Amino acid sequence: MINSNDRLGPLALLVGTWTGTGEGIYPTIATFGYREEIVFSDGGVKPFIGYVQRTSALDDGRPLHAESGYLRWTAGGAEWIIASPTGVTEVHTTHLSVDEAGLDAVFRTVSMSASPTAKRVDSVERRLRLRGDELTYELHMAAVGEQHQLHLTATLRRG
Ligand code: HEM
Repeated sequence: MINSNDRLGPLALLVGTWTGTGEGIYPTIATFGYREEIVFSDGGVKPFIGYVQRTSALDDGRPLHAESGYLRWTAGGAEWIIASPTGVTEVHTTHLSVDEAGLDAVFRTVSMSASPTAKRVDSVERRLRLRGDELTYELHMAAVGEQHQLHLTATLRRG
């Protein structure tokens, strides 16, 4: 396992380029498969890592969701700031759990905002599980009037 360090804490474990596939579901839409690339980058000076994500449809390769932001390492844990072209922004906090096996974290939104025409999203929860060079996650959300529930699951490998 890559070592964590003082500046980034366990966020250092995430640095790299990750690729994989996932599945999306929600009661209001058709289930879909997607390809995903995530880059967590370390600028080398400050206590945060950059985050850039993009996805495409498994069936025909058309671009789907994309998002970007920052993961900040603080005395109290980690904070994740995310902006999406859907008009939604998310601010999450978490307490990371790290042991010999890897890293686990449940990020939950402490605030969100939306552009005037964005679809309604009331809460987002991102559950990350890192084991060596394998990163899996689940994303749950309460959106478009539906209860908080699963939207995405994915498995990525560090390239
Ligand atoms: C890997 C990332 C994601 C992918 C591939 C993805 C993909 C999709 C797709 C294909 C749809 C259905 C078609 C459409 O409305 O465009 C959809 C709907 C939706 N997604 Fe996602 N999404 C992702 C992340 C997110 C995130 C982070 C949020 C919330 C912050 C979100 C919120 C929604 C909402 C609100 C809908 C509309 C549901 C409806 O209109 O009934 N998605 N997503």
